[in-house]
Amino acid sequence: MKKLIVANWKMRVNSEEEAVKLARASDHAGVIICPPFPFIPVIKRNVRRAALGAQDIFWEKGGAYTGEISGTILKNIGAQYVIVGHSERRKWLKETDQMVNNKIFAALTAGLTAILCVGEPLRVRKQGFAAAKKFVANQLKKDLESVSRTSRLIIAYEPLWAIGTGVVDTPEDSLQMARFIKFFLKSQKSKLKVNVLYGGSVTGKNAGHMLQSKEIQGALVGGASLKPAEFKKIIQACSLNFE
Ligand code: PGA
Repeated sequence: MKKLIVANWKMRVNSEEEAVKLARASDHAGVIICPPFPFIPVIKRNVRRAALGAQDIFWEKGGAYTGEISGTILKNIGAQYVIVGHSERRKWLKETDQMVNNKIFAALTAGLTAILCVGEPLRVRKQGFAAAKKFVANQLKKDLESVSRTSRLIIAYEPLWAIGTGVVDTPEDSLQMARFIKFFLKSQKSKLKVNVLYGGSVTGKNAGHMLQSKEIQGALVGGASLKPAEFKKIIQACSLNFE
């Protein structure tokens, strides 16, 4: 069983030296390293098996957009993937579903694979699993509005209360949500067929359990992707095909 492991380094690596060292330790097939933008090119030159991804993208192709980065730039510096709609951007940058939708289009147009993050907050999960499904369905509907069938779309289910908290979802609930996401997207007009990853406090210890089902195609890993020994355990737990 071959899984994908997305290493989301966030804004936690500060130098090229640190980035290259960490990337070399994470260099396995099936791993997608998402470093801060400036480190993408140097990592690209220093890994052989891992792929590169960005943590964000802007929706316009180019122009007077100070501080933003386009899909074309990302592609040209070596990224193949891009995380879109991460909850931290929705929270701190006030990204709306409309913006996320625009970004998905930008990623697909540039030839990147979009990794769309969805997930419910704690107050919703407290209302029960049906409420969580409804919340996620609503995000998917808006974020993927008018997106037609593509092989370059991955959904990362990341319950907000599990991100960076050390509280992981149960394998049963995340599997149920992964099934729901696939069912929901297939039942929509565009009949999207997607792979689903789980994200939120994945560690070497829980990865085996969290990823045991073949209906969960991998993990989006934050904190543990910065600890080589821990990350290696996640890779092993995924029984990745290394070559
Ligand atoms: P975490 O982060 O693994 O540290 O919980 C996951 C994420 O933010 O995608």
